[in-house]
Amino acid sequence: MASIIKTEDLTYTYSIGTPFEKTAVDKVCLDIEEGTFSGIIGHTGSGKSTLIQHLNGLIRPTSGRVIIDGQDIWSKDVKIRDIRFKVGLVFQYPEYQIFEETVYKDIAFGPKNMGLPDEEIDRRVKETAELVGLKQETLYKSPFELSGGQKRRVAIAGVMAMEP
Ligand SMILES: Nc1ncnc2c1ncn2[C@@H]1O[C@H](COP(=O)(O)OP(=O)(O)O)[C@@H](O)[C@H]1O
Ligand SMILES: [Mg+2]
Repeated sequence: MASIIKTEDLTYTYSIGTPFEKTAVDKVCLDIEEGTFSGIIGHTGSGKSTLIQHLNGLIRPTSGRVIIDGQDIWSKDVKIRDIRFKVGLVFQYPEYQIFEETVYKDIAFGPKNMGLPDEEIDRRVKETAELVGLKQETLYKSPFELSGGQKRRVAIAGVMAMEP
């Protein structure tokens, strides 16, 4: 199977040259194949979040490479914006990334930013809502009226709607 997410000797050091200098990710080589599910396990502070933030270019390696779908994401001919559409990240407390007036608008935010036509946005909002188990009537509520678990579903749908 094809490699979809790969890192080569990925290293990330915070606050280089200060007394707080800290290498959080140290020469990590990772190879994830298309169509598979992987988990990364480690105790608090072991560098999981730092590693993950490299996978859609939120942070740039101190050294080493990140290769998504065969492309080094920091090479000159790659637009990092395209990588962010390709790789979706849901944060640890996804409910904090919700901000729109309705669930519908919140899920539509990503696809809208991608410049998709309204009918396509509508299809994606409805399909991803269904995928994460949100009822269609929930789409017209304020996300702030929902339970914690439902908010998480909205945040996940918002990422899935970009079809990363
Ligand atoms: N913004 C930051 N500035 C400085 N050090 C950081 C920062 N974020 C994380 N670290 C440090 O990097 C290490 C790895 O943290 P992190 O990637 O958040 O681990 P995990 O997600 O596995 O808990 C920890 O020692 C943490 O204190
Ligand atoms: Mg973390």
